[in-house]
Amino acid sequence: MPEHLVLISPSANRVYAAATPSLITAETRALATGFGIPDIEVEPTVLGGVPYLAVRTPDHLAEDGVALLSNLSAVHALFRREGALLAPVELQRSERYPSDLVTIQKYQGKTNEQWTRLLLNVTAAATRHPRKLLDGTLQVFDPMCGRGTTLNLALSLGLDVTGVDLDRKDYEAYSAFIKTWLRQHRLKHTAEDKQLRTGGQTRGRRLDIEVAPTKEDFKAGAVQRASFLNTDTSDLDGLLRATSQDVIVTDTPYGVLHGSHGDRLARSPLDLLEVALSGWHRVLRSGGAIGLSFNRHVAPRSELSTLLQQHGFEPVTGEEDAFRHRVDASIDRDLLVAVKA
Ligand SMILES: C[S@@+](CC[C@H](N)C(=O)[O-])C[C@H]1O[C@@H](n2cnc3c(N)ncnc32)[C@H](O)[C@@H]1O
Repeated sequence: MPEHLVLISPSANRVYAAATPSLITAETRALATGFGIPDIEVEPTVLGGVPYLAVRTPDHLAEDGVALLSNLSAVHALFRREGALLAPVELQRSERYPSDLVTIQKYQGKTNEQWTRLLLNVTAAATRHPRKLLDGTLQVFDPMCGRGTTLNLALSLGLDVTGVDLDRKDYEAYSAFIKTWLRQHRLKHTAEDKQLRTGGQTRGRRLDIEVAPTKEDFKAGAVQRASFLNTDTSDLDGLLRATSQDVIVTDTPYGVLHGSHGDRLARSPLDLLEVALSGWHRVLRSGGAIGLSFNRHVAPRSELSTLLQQHGFEPVTGEEDAFRHRVDASIDRDLLVAVKA
């Protein structure tokens, strides 16, 4: 069995970095199951004082294994073990734009971009067609997108994406950021910022972006689309087509107030999910999956799981605490994935 060693990215966040080897181990197992490589063997290891992930794949699936490992949330470099030495392996990354698209925005309440990537990966792995993640056809929806970490991540991976957030300041900050970023990187694009209206009623604002990595792609119409709807996620009627999304990924409110949010922004994720989940279920394709990141202090895992079942989702069972980690004294973070049959 060929053995690969994944050099784990040095993370900016010290607390998250300590949890990374076990998180990325669980992420690799989830992706391997989704990609049909169930016999993979994964374990964190240390070589020369540096943490790596050691991964053994059956011979005939070694190439598939490389594609999978290249797209882990925290891969820095990849090697193949050759006796006592390590040979570099070319990464097969999906990223199409400079990495600052995902990393440059810094604000209180931002979801760590590696965690967002991990959430997207394990959620996509649970869908009926996990390889859409790699071929650019996965349709991503973040129904509480904040200032757009998921939007930027999906764009960088060549995917189409829609986000919803009620906070006007988040919407305006994202709109200003993405327009400036697209201009500064001289990418051919359109950006339309207008009122969000249905049936003569104003529901908020909407930003629609079309972009392509090259002028030629843009001219040929090979564009990616990102939309941000600044409205209440518990009322999506008439805004998104039924069964149009492959994955829903979102970082739910933590019950910790970041900055000055208005009264309508829910602080308890369970109350909010109770009123929003049926609308989210409607827009998800059959065979699609939902991945929620949440704070166990304010949303017990079992209650969240029950709530998902009550709204027609089937939670994916796995190792109970595989993704659980402490962010700070008030946040005990975890994720839960469920599928729509
Ligand atoms: C943990 S934050 C998401 C942060 C985001 N992932 C980012 O990196 O910027 C949760 C978001 O839920 C949003 N939210 C809370 N209640 C909402 C509602 N009723 N409709 C839409 N968004 C809501 C908040 O405005 C907040 O931005």
